[in-house]
Amino acid sequence: MFDALIDRRETDSVRWDKYAGRDVIPLWVADTDFRAPPAVIDALQARVAHGVFGYTAPPAALLEAIVARMQRLYAWTIQPEWVVFLPGVVSALYMAVQRLTTPAQHVLSPAPVYYHVFRAAQTAPRAYTDVPMVQVQGRWVWDEDALAAAVTPDTRLLMLCNPHNPGGTVFTREELSRLATFAARHDLLIVSDEIHCDLILEPSGMHVPIASLSPEISQRVVTLMSPSKTFNIAGSGMAYAIIEDPRLRTAFSFDLKKTVHDASLFGYTAALAAYQDGADWLRAQLAYLRVNRDLLTATVARLPGVQMVHLEATYLAWIDCSGLGVADPQALFLAHGLGLSPGVDFGAPQYVRFNFGTQRARLETALQRFERAVRAAQA
Ligand SMILES: Cc1ncc(COP(=O)(O)O)c(C=O)c1O
Repeated sequence: MFDALIDRRETDSVRWDKYAGRDVIPLWVADTDFRAPPAVIDALQARVAHGVFGYTAPPAALLEAIVARMQRLYAWTIQPEWVVFLPGVVSALYMAVQRLTTPAQHVLSPAPVYYHVFRAAQTAPRAYTDVPMVQVQGRWVWDEDALAAAVTPDTRLLMLCNPHNPGGTVFTREELSRLATFAARHDLLIVSDEIHCDLILEPSGMHVPIASLSPEISQRVVTLMSPSKTFNIAGSGMAYAIIEDPRLRTAFSFDLKKTVHDASLFGYTAALAAYQDGADWLRAQLAYLRVNRDLLTATVARLPGVQMVHLEATYLAWIDCSGLGVADPQALFLAHGLGLSPGVDFGAPQYVRFNFGTQRARLETALQRFERAVRAAQA
């Protein structure tokens, strides 16, 4: 199912059009080359066949599916009114910083991190501090001493990305509990971007929404989720926030329509079908991605000058190229026909991010090019 090489040229794909007409395998922006689950395609086709695409409210069945999903996967009891539908997670990050902090307040953001997380603070604009993520026992985790040192009397918001992009950490219940205690001690809100929550590659791994830890922490948290990465429907325009505290929810979503458009009706349709009937497809996708991750990990492990940790989640590998001795690793790989994300976008110029959410045959070609580039840097 995942091996079929699908031609995405001529579909206005952001990822594929970037290098259109060049012999470059685009493994950068975070979507995959997989067709969505059959149930999603069928549901969209049925919706299209109806032929009328007017303004559409979030379906009650989707709300029920989200509430049931949080209970089933995380033993997290949420109420339907906590859910705020959105067209995407990125706009929610910007809205959250704008609406939940005052101009005088200060934000804490992990570094490196998905660039919209810190840019949300940068463009608000709010004073913010990059708190380094550090490698401990082969995982990227918060430097908790640096976190404690970064907090000021003006700090109001902690940005969390769980699972982490890039680096793929699935934070444990203990790690999250410590963050929650820290947030309570300093009276901080938490915006938790959990868009990658379903892409857990370790069979024993478990995503824990930080808001699910306790009713106390839930009062401080805006959780952002979406089926878009999970089921490869990022173009369908649907995400949601889960916010228990009514004051926080009102502050976040007040006059929402003046800021962003409604989520897309196609997004609602796709999400509902994915949540209702996509579980087997998701299991199969995770098994496929696991093999891809292992192929990439093995390639990186046997090459000099490059390193990556064992990735617990996502299809985005974070590769340290500092041992190659080149100023711009992204340019090196591009010259060898690989379009990776430059680490500089995430705050780490000596890294590249490698999207392995593609067909095995294409990945194998990409890995040959990766090896050629590494050897060329060392020649
Ligand atoms: C951590 C994270 N948040 C948000 C997004 C994008 O969210 P959306 O497409 O819903 O705006 C991405 C996409 O790569 C991501 O990795």
